[in-house]
Amino acid sequence: MSESQLWHQVDDYFAALLAPDDEALTAALRDSEAAGLPPIAVTPALGKFLHLLAQVQGARRILEIGTLGGYSTIWLARALPADGRLISLEYDPRHAEVATGNIARAGLDKLVEVRVGPALESLPRLADEHPPPFDLVFIDADKANNPHYLEWALKLTRAGSVIVLDNVVRGGRVIDRDSTDPDLVGTRAALELIAGHPRLSGTAVQTVGAKGYDGFALARVLE
Ligand code: SAH
Ligand code: DHB
Ligand code: MG
Repeated sequence: MSESQLWHQVDDYFAALLAPDDEALTAALRDSEAAGLPPIAVTPALGKFLHLLAQVQGARRILEIGTLGGYSTIWLARALPADGRLISLEYDPRHAEVATGNIARAGLDKLVEVRVGPALESLPRLADEHPPPFDLVFIDADKANNPHYLEWALKLTRAGSVIVLDNVVRGGRVIDRDSTDPDLVGTRAALELIAGHPRLSGTAVQTVGAKGYDGFALARVLE
């Protein structure tokens, strides 16, 4: 067995034990695949991690950038209280349509709103609504814009809010300082922003599993 096959099997073991599929999650992945969406949703174990993080945080308001088929959305929204709110921003109207169906089937349509369009257009509009601060932001869209998403997240949060940035390792390519891949350049810039920003304290954690070798960054907003 190759090392990556072993990572996958261990991830399957953890998922079955600790983050078991239910009807809504299974159906969300099935309908996403049937609609031709790319298979890049968070793993069950990372979905459960986001769910627990939102609960630990006592999150009442969550912002997600990058909905895809709504799989991570469902994990996050299930952590909200009955009067909670999750706004998820998605560029592709087809993805948003699939997600909206998946979220409704999960019984979360009262809590979740999917907004269609480039997030860099949706974010200023959202800010103009002067919403109460978000307690948790999950950034998981086009990685090239990660530094911009992080700046918007700072505008839309409060001291104590938590920001998670997905896919910051990419098989280890994150340390390639000469890469011109816009996704890598964006992710490195976002990590440097976390490192240098007076209102952020953060870290990054490498992961292996069903989606290979990747990782996430986590930052806390300071006063
Ligand atoms: N969070 C999802 C996966 C998101 S995949 C999950 O784990 O289940 C990344 C998504 O970001 C894709 O659906 C893609 O269409 C969307 N995206 C790409 N560029 C975007 C942009 N500029 N604004 C908003 N969404 C974008
Ligand atoms: C990709 C995007 C993701 O958000 C992810 O979790 C994995 C892969 C991608 O664009 O390849
Ligand atoms: Mg991701």
